[in-house]
Amino acid sequence: MTAEKGHPLRYFTFTFGCQMNDHDSEVLRGLLEKAGYERAASEETADVIILNTCCVRERAENKVFGYLGKLKALKASKPGLVIGVGGCMAQRQGMAEAIRRQAPHVDVIFGTHNLHRVPELVRMARETRQAQLEVWSRPLEDIPEGLPVRREDGLKAHVTITYGCNNFCTYCIVPYVRGRERSRPPEVILEEIRGLAAEGYKEVMLLGQNVNSYGRDLNNGVDFADLLAMVDGIAGIERVRYTTSHPKDFSRRLINAVAACAKVCEHFHLPVQAGSDAVLARMHRRYTRDDYFRLVDQIRARVPGASITTDLIVGFPGETEDDFAATLDLVERVRFDSAYTFIYSPRAGTKAAGFPDQVEAEVKKNRLVRLVERQNRISQEVNQELLGQEVEVLVEGPSKTNPEVLSGRTRTNKIVIFSGQARPGELQRVRITEAGAWTLFGEPVARKVRGRVLARQAEQLQPGIWWRYSW
Ligand code: SAH
Ligand code: SF4
Ligand code: F3S
Repeated sequence: MTAEKGHPLRYFTFTFGCQMNDHDSEVLRGLLEKAGYERAASEETADVIILNTCCVRERAENKVFGYLGKLKALKASKPGLVIGVGGCMAQRQGMAEAIRRQAPHVDVIFGTHNLHRVPELVRMARETRQAQLEVWSRPLEDIPEGLPVRREDGLKAHVTITYGCNNFCTYCIVPYVRGRERSRPPEVILEEIRGLAAEGYKEVMLLGQNVNSYGRDLNNGVDFADLLAMVDGIAGIERVRYTTSHPKDFSRRLINAVAACAKVCEHFHLPVQAGSDAVLARMHRRYTRDDYFRLVDQIRARVPGASITTDLIVGFPGETEDDFAATLDLVERVRFDSAYTFIYSPRAGTKAAGFPDQVEAEVKKNRLVRLVERQNRISQEVNQELLGQEVEVLVEGPSKTNPEVLSGRTRTNKIVIFSGQARPGELQRVRITEAGAWTLFGEPVARKVRGRVLARQAEQLQPGIWWRYSW
């Protein structure tokens, strides 16, 4: 690639959507850097701007168009600038054309299956000064491996274990834009994680739309429970997380694996979506509210202190006031640590978009407000139970809102703010002194290392050495 203006060309990426997309952007950055681009600090200093988009709800798409609108003036003042739009929204049927129509200043459009083509498409756009539109209808036969990844933080890493989804929940566009479920072979995943451990990473998040169906397409006898046990054995990694789990596939065997694996965290993100059996059936979730209650009971019996979080949708077609009351009741009975709450958004091409009895916007909004209010109170109450308790925090660094204090997460995935000298990557015991719905506050506790009390002086730690403690 040719350098211009005395410096290599610079790229800027902006990501919408879920962790899979965040990780795709890490690959995108890796690809661009391999092709010789340097990272730009802002849109204004970039020669190439790539938007990695989401289409799970209409709002996500509106945000992309909003962002593209803002880039129009920049493009007008800098005609050499290449603007690329890709990912889930571009992959959605008819959207590539819609983007071209609404935002003619876009130079490159790519889908979810041809991310690796981006450097080439950008090069062609620069050389020919013509828009490049390339969206593949299917992924490559073999999952492309060995693509460069440029990760953001040196502590926690996302690692894909499955691509795509086979579940076809009736509201969801993801299976259409991400294709069928494909699992990466265990040896490739383990090699990647060993490499991350060698680089100093402490936590891995295993990613897939439905991680607990991992391995079904591999026919090698390895399932998600086996994979967890293998990852648990990798030296240097201290915490293992995974997302997302579908409740229908969360087997007893898997609960036992989580309980048995020391590094696998006691956090279960189990999207329930709704509390009414009629709605769950129309969503094609393939479990009932009683199945879900049983699952929660099994988890709580087997993994004491586990946190359970969820996703909920209000205003699914045909949702009556009674159906919604069943969601409120479920939330009250399970007492989730926290929940992501969404207003149902019809997605063209999905089954539910064609269902009768779409719920009015005002009713949906009102239900969301009531649900959020209910869940916030529960989150606050659940967190209050931690007051006075000691928790293990993986230190991430200075808090973003107040650099005077440190921020980290518990194994149950709660944010904790505390004072002290600990360094990023250390495991620190913290006593909780204050608890809100979203954040915990606490004080560091002196550590006991093999029975001896060790003052928490970060200076006493030898850099690069990671130690395990027994409390
Ligand atoms: N694979 C994950 C979630 C993917 S999308 C899973 O199955 O849990 C993340 C969340 O977005 C979903 O759990 C659901 O709650 C929400 N969602 C998906 N499609 C939606 C739609 N059309 N309208 C509103 N929320 C939606
Ligand atoms: Fe969408 Fe359902 Fe697949 Fe999750 S499991 S990605 S909600 S179709
Ligand atoms: Fe959005 Fe695609 Fe993720 S649609 S939620 S970015 S898989």
